[in-house]
Amino acid sequence: MKSRQVYMDHGATTPVREEVLEAMLPFYREHYGNPSSLHAQGRAVRRELETAREKIAEILGAEAKEIIFTSGGTESNNIALRGTAKKKGTKGHIITSSIEHHAVLDVCRDLEKEGHPVTYLPVDKYGRVDPQTVKEAIQPDTFIISIMAANNEIGTLQPIKEIGSIAAEHKILFHTDAVQVVGQLPLDLSKIKVDFLSLSAHKFNGPKGVGALYVRKGVRINPIYIGGGQERKIRPGTENVPGIIGMSRALELTSTGMEEKSEKLSQLRDRLISGLLKIDEVILNGHPEERLPGNVNVSFEHIEGESILLSLDLQGVAASSGSACSSGSLDPSHVLSAIGLDHHTAHGSIRFSLGYGNSNNDIDYVLEIIPLIVDKLRRISPTYKPKAI
Ligand SMILES: Cc1ncc(COP(=O)(O)O)c(C=O)c1O
Repeated sequence: MKSRQVYMDHGATTPVREEVLEAMLPFYREHYGNPSSLHAQGRAVRRELETAREKIAEILGAEAKEIIFTSGGTESNNIALRGTAKKKGTKGHIITSSIEHHAVLDVCRDLEKEGHPVTYLPVDKYGRVDPQTVKEAIQPDTFIISIMAANNEIGTLQPIKEIGSIAAEHKILFHTDAVQVVGQLPLDLSKIKVDFLSLSAHKFNGPKGVGALYVRKGVRINPIYIGGGQERKIRPGTENVPGIIGMSRALELTSTGMEEKSEKLSQLRDRLISGLLKIDEVILNGHPEERLPGNVNVSFEHIEGESILLSLDLQGVAASSGSACSSGSLDPSHVLSAIGLDHHTAHGSIRFSLGYGNSNNDIDYVLEIIPLIVDKLRRISPTYKPKAI
């Protein structure tokens, strides 16, 4: 069998586009001044940095001063949650969901240890948070609601518009981790009642280690660490100028003709899903329609996701294991458990996350090799009983 390279792990990270790299290089080579310096070099870099901020803000339907540059999604989430808790001064209640990324979930667990009670909302079998449960969880001292825009494992989109309105009605801050959405779906912050939004450049063909936190005008937050006065003191430290320039260029590129691109990606996704579901005992995880255009997450009964992953890897296909046994633990992912999968089904999960580099040929290739891999692995599975013909 021919072997080729197919990258289907864009949910983990994406390749940096050539145009993005080109835009970044002058900021390593020539324009290396510190944007806080008063000399001409520094001032020139400051202008470029502010242009990048304006561009990002415009694409997101925000104002430039509402964009705070950070080192990525993890830091943005930490600043939003810890910064508001710090600003509050006293202990208060937090609402989040049980399927957040660890960069929200573990921060909430930490804040819980510090005395802030946290409600971890359940999700339905598709991974959706019911806005009614958000309403019901609100307590007199609830100060922030943090619900992700889309789940990184199963791709399910959350009703953040409704949740944002509920939060606003109750005068509670609303944060959304939109790391998986920015760059994949159009987003207009002027139409959503959101106070904080996290994004990360490496998920939309930008560089790693750079991101942003949208902080709505008028919302006050304390820094979580102290230093210089950069980024309105919300995120002190010399800005990652080449990274920010790259992020702005990447967002610009990905946002041009986005509706058409997401539609094309959704078509590839749906072809892959329907091909995979033709295999015996395969389950689609996540919402059938309300999901990220590039996300496919399926469980293959009677086999371990890791074994499929390794076989795919041998054939040049990069995907990721849905069970994501982080830190060497054998527990299945908290997301797959939260949507009700039993251990065996959760352990047979694979996430294929598509990006703009993928083509119909890539889908054909995966659909050609995966039935053979599954068949081979099921033959040695102690639990698999082939159906009688
Ligand atoms: C939903 C979500 N939030 C946060 C992060 C963390 O982002 P970063 O890698 O930029 O810290 C990720 C990355 O996988 C993610 O998918």
